[in-house]
Amino acid sequence: MTLFINGQPVEIAEGTTVAAALMQAGATRLSVDGEPRAPVCGMGVCFECAARVDGVWTLRTCLVRCAEGMEVETR
Ligand code: FES
Repeated sequence: MTLFINGQPVEIAEGTTVAAALMQAGATRLSVDGEPRAPVCGMGVCFECAARVDGVWTLRTCLVRCAEGMEVETR
């Protein structure tokens, strides 16, 4: 399936979490200090994987499965 990460199309296997898709694409969110951040726990506790998914901010992407045409923003 195809989703869009920061406007770029990314091909991803069905059943993949958005956090895994972000890592596969090499896309990271930035901290308020501009430091790159990446998923840590993979189970919804740390919020390090937070991103905007289909217009909704601060979703923990390790808990969200990719869907066709989904739009993900990390900044
Ligand atoms: S990786 Fe920790 S909440 Fe998603």
